[in-house]
Formats: sequence, structure tokens, C-alpha cells
Amino acid sequence: MSTLLHLKSVEADISGSRILRGVELEVRPGEVVALMGRNGVGKTTTLKTITGLLPVRAGAIMFEEKPIHRLATDVRARLGIGYVPQGRDIFPHMTVEENLRIGLVVHGRKGADAANALERVYELFPVLKEMLGRKGGVLSGGQQQQLAIGRALLCDPKLLILDEPTEGIQPSIIEQIGDTLRRLRTIPRADGTGLAILLVEQYVDFCRAVADRYYALDRGAVVSSGAIADLTDDVVRIHLQV
Ligand SMILES: Nc1ncnc2c1ncn2[C@@H]1O[C@H](COP(=O)(O)OP(=O)(O)O)[C@@H](O)[C@H]1O
Ligand SMILES: [Mg+2]
Repeated sequence: MSTLLHLKSVEADISGSRILRGVELEVRPGEVVALMGRNGVGKTTTLKTITGLLPVRAGAIMFEEKPIHRLATDVRARLGIGYVPQGRDIFPHMTVEENLRIGLVVHGRKGADAANALERVYELFPVLKEMLGRKGGVLSGGQQQQLAIGRALLCDPKLLILDEPTEGIQPSIIEQIGDTLRRLRTIPRADGTGLAILLVEQYVDFCRAVADRYYALDRGAVVSSGAIADLTDDVVRIHLQV
């Protein structure tokens, strides 16, 4: 299979305003794709159409070559789409363990299957195992990001979607998040493919460090795309720089 996720001319409205104007985007198995763009251009909206939090008005979203854009959010998650929303959505007054258990409930995992899924998350993020009894709200930004990613991994995704993982995180920790993403690519999956990542990110250097390909979004449409090595300073200046 050459394409894991394929957005075909996706249009979406919010409160009667056209926000997405025919977004075209592809993610192949095992690759890291950065969706870039300034504030308000429709990056989060694009992710919400993929996860099912927002309906598409026109166009199609294919996952493993089947249309998913009419399926419920939880069904899409079970097909293998993990989602870490912007701001991470950790429950601050619940412990790390409770935050993870919510993920298990959402993804319908029980018994030995649930225990195995948790064990894999602890292997990947040992710090979470050390902090199981701590409240989510007292973790550092980087640890919260690991918790949010760990929770999303509990659905055993083929595609992990991250919305601005470096937002509000200290520069010294951003590098750790880059390391985390590189580590995620090495997770062996049952079907032999690596985990693919679709990352919304405004921080260009971070994209250059972790992504294989990029899409630049401007006012609801893709204006440039290609290998991250071919992202030119002109594209950065015209479409990405604040
Ligand atoms: N709940 C909402 N109600 C009204 N407008 C919204 C809402 N959410 C987003 N928008 C508008 O949709 C556009 C795209 O938003 P968004 O996808 O969140 O941008 P990005 O993630 O690229 O910063 C923005 O112009 C924003 O003002
Ligand atoms: Mg956003």
C-alpha cells in the first residue's frame, strides 16, 4: 500500500464560513509529515476532519484506501488513527495512571490486552511509570506531552496525529520531544510497517529535524509541499514566517 491517509479536495466550514478550500494531503506508511502554516490558516481544522470532530463539506478522506469521512470518531480511532490535540488535553486533577486508563476505556481495551498496551507505553516513556500516582497537572510540559502521546498510542495507531506538540514548551525540552518522535518511528508494528506521524507544527527548525515531507497551508489550501529538504526560504518567508 502506497498511501495510508489521503485527503482529496477536502472542504470544511465552521459556523457557516469556509475554512478548508480543497485540502490535498497524503501520508504514506511509516513517514513523518509536517503540516505547517501560520495561526488561523486551518491546520487544526484539517486534523479535526481527519479524526471526525468536524464533518467534511466536500471531498473525501481515505485511510488505507477506504473512505472514513462519514465514520464516527471512535471508529476512526479503532481503525488506527491516534490523536493528540492542541494543548494536549491532559486531565490535570487525575493521576498519570487515571489519564492512561481513560485512554484504554476510550479505545475499548480490557484485561491482558490493556495491560500489554500499558506496558508498551511504559517501555517507551519510563518516566510515566515512575509518575503513575502523580497528578497530570504537576508534570512538566515535556512529561505531559509524553503522557498525551502515550495515551494516544493505546489505540495501537498506524497513524499518530499531533497538533503543535512544541507549543508552550521550553526550548530545552523541545529537543526531547524531537527525540521522542524519532523513537516512535522505531516501534515495531504487527503489520511490519512503522508508525506514521502527521504533525502540525509552526516551528520550522523542528520540522526540518523530524519530518520527511511537508505541506504548507495558507488560508485553507495547500500552497506548497514536498520533501522537507526542499522547503525553501522563500516558502518559509511567504507562507510560514510570522
Ligand atoms: N470554534 C470556532 N468558531 C469559529 N471560528 C473558528 C472556530 N475554530 C476555528 N475557527 C476559525 O477557523 C480558522 C482556522 O482555525 P484553525 O484550524 O484552528 O487554525 P490553525 O490551527 O491553523 O491555527 C481560523 O480563522 C479560526 O478563527
Ligand atoms: Mg491550531
